Amino acid sequence: MPALLTVEQLESVRLVTLNRPEALNALTSALLGELADELANAEQDPTTHAVVLTGNRKAFAAGADLKEMAERDLVGILNDPRVAFWQRITAFSKPLIAAVNGYALGGGCELAMHADILIAGRDAQFGQPEINLGIMPGAGGTQRLLRAVGKSLAMQMVLTGEPIGARQALAAGLVSEVTEPELTVERALAIARRIAGQAPLAVRLAKEALLKAQDTDLASGLRLERHAFTLLAGTHDRNEGIRAFQEKRRPRYRGE
Ligand code: CAA
Repeated sequence: MPALLTVEQLESVRLVTLNRPEALNALTSALLGELADELANAEQDPTTHAVVLTGNRKAFAAGADLKEMAERDLVGILNDPRVAFWQRITAFSKPLIAAVNGYALGGGCELAMHADILIAGRDAQFGQPEINLGIMPGAGGTQRLLRAVGKSLAMQMVLTGEPIGARQALAAGLVSEVTEPELTVERALAIARRIAGQAPLAVRLAKEALLKAQDTDLASGLRLERHAFTLLAGTHDRNEGIRAFQEKRRPRYRGE
């Protein structure tokens, strides 16, 4: 059986590609298990500073695998190994960039929304079609979508099941850039490389503070930001960054 993922290490950036083209990258437990393991590897690897996640030109991922879902009863759903996957991906602390072409539906849209930055090809389609199946999103599709695109559009997408295109996703703030489909991965890699060149501790704490802004009140968020900012003041990389600016050279960060 071909690998469900392909992984390329491109210096400090890891490119992870979902590889079930025959099923539009529908997310089986096995695929999500491999992806969770791969993210754990990337988390542990000190040479990996950012990860780009992508699919193929026709689909980022068309959602949970419906053939697998059809075989699950309530007990199976309660013990679904996919639940553990969503917890593991939420805990991933390095920058994660999704390069989305084609369909990002259901669990596929939810997977893309776990990324810190989303880049979409012009023909990308984002949707939560679960309602068409008599169910509803179960991996963040109500909570993250509403935070990303606002109440009215989230309600429309989840209650009608109709997807939106890349241009609307850009206007709504779900994605940060739209590219020609053949350039989506390249653009995501360029952003990842740029981030990978920054001081790792600053990137990590900035990501944590930004994510906190989505689910906390302003005063608590500002306290966390101040705390993180103060922590960075004691790092080698902070001194190196400022010294390099003064000496008009590129900084040499150590992640310390
Ligand atoms: N699960 C399993 N297989 C899928 C799949 C899915 N989610 N989506 C597509 N496939 C398979 C199709 O069965 C087909 O395989 P066969 O040729 O063996 O039949 C192959 O991928 C190609 O798909 P289509 O022929 O349907 O391609 P299309 O271009 O005509 O249509 C599509 C594309 C509109 C995305 C359509 O495939 C579709 O509607 N897919 C289902 C999308 C969906 O409902 N996703 C939500 C799943 S529920 C969920 O995600 C919940 C959760 O995580 C909590």
